[in-house]
Amino acid sequence: MILVTGGAGFIGSNFVLDWLEQVGESVVNLDALTYAGNLRNLDVLQHDARHHFVRGDIGDRALVDRLLAEHRPRAIVHFAAESHVDRSIHGPAAFVRTNVEGTFTLLEAARAYWSELPEEQRAAFRFHHVSTDEVYGSLGPTDPPFTETHPYQPNSPYSASKAASDHLVRAWFHTYGLPALTTNCSNNYGPYHFPEKLIPLMIVNALSGKPLPVYGDGQNVRDWLYVKDHCAAVRVVLAHGRPGETYNIGGWNEKTNLEIVHTVCALLDELRPDPAGSHARLITFVQDRPGHDRRYAIDARKLERELGWRPADTFDTGIRKTVQWYLDHPQWVAEVQSGAYRDWLATHYAGGAGA
Ligand code: NAD
Ligand code: DAU
Repeated sequence: MILVTGGAGFIGSNFVLDWLEQVGESVVNLDALTYAGNLRNLDVLQHDARHHFVRGDIGDRALVDRLLAEHRPRAIVHFAAESHVDRSIHGPAAFVRTNVEGTFTLLEAARAYWSELPEEQRAAFRFHHVSTDEVYGSLGPTDPPFTETHPYQPNSPYSASKAASDHLVRAWFHTYGLPALTTNCSNNYGPYHFPEKLIPLMIVNALSGKPLPVYGDGQNVRDWLYVKDHCAAVRVVLAHGRPGETYNIGGWNEKTNLEIVHTVCALLDELRPDPAGSHARLITFVQDRPGHDRRYAIDARKLERELGWRPADTFDTGIRKTVQWYLDHPQWVAEVQSGAYRDWLATHYAGGAGA
């Protein structure tokens, strides 16, 4: 079996569902259920004996030690993190606690467990650290996309905390020999995406006739990847990646934020027309994010060359499935909106357009 951390979050829950469908091997899912963790995402696994959910903190060494000793996983896939850049600007402490100290605790627990394994299991064990392209900083308009050797230049408390965790993972491989893999992925979108991030926020706001808050001039560029393609890439790297290596994962799909918002509006106009007019009428430019990175783009050729991975979905297919998923799951959206999410929106957009 494998131990997954953060498996009730957006990407983690997609990964657990995908893993059980594609691989079928049992999963221990350790998640603290912060505001971003949602067990509803895993409803279909309620009676699935292959999924063992544990509510707990990756920073709780005694708990992690116990889970490793009891379940004896052959790998740890580490998604758990504070993941939202805007929240990291308002309150960086939780980011240092979970992303840096939590990853440190997990690495130490993994090292203690791994070093006691019998020879064959020791050689096969993997620690897969899921990270982000944001650690590389921001690109100019004509710069080539980030490769794995691009210097680390994190600009937000979130990306700085993820960069720190990447460095810890690297050091645990080089110093202790822990067989670690790191993947740095671009922006994901898809089902179960918490509506504080750009794409799901635009969908749920548009559906309820609320303003669509675009930061600054809307010309910041992100490289969007359908979440199931990220899950497939993690599976491939976990199975065939070389310990100590890092692999960039991206969608070859750079878009400005304004293009993204217009695409979402056009799809909603087609699938759920609003008698009041095009959803694009709701677009509202708001104050920019402090330190807002201008452009991210991933060069994912290493992963393709060495392990044969390429995204299966294009942006056109992925975004259509995503918008349709939100239209088909009003109950999920309503439940998310009735929780802490609302308080967060009220604070963050106080006096602005998005609340
Ligand atoms: P998310 O915020 O949706 O989910 C994070 C999950 O981690 C939640 O279920 C939360 O409850 C859990 N968690 C938080 N603190 C914890 C702790 N101390 N102990 C145990 N569990 C804890 O995040 P996401 O978007 O699914 O991102 C998952 C991972 O992928 C993160 O490491 C993130 O940095 C990385 N990543 C995300 C993206 C993206 O576009 N969302 C892109 C690249 C990399
Ligand atoms: O690049 C990978 C990263 O992508 C991940 O590591 C992070 O965990 C994930 O949250 C995401 O970070 P971003 O900051 O790029 O995602 P977000 O959805 O918050 O914002 C995407 C872009 O949209 C960004 O340029 C800011 C802008 N934006 C965002 C929100 C929430 C707006 O214009 N308006 C908004 O209301």
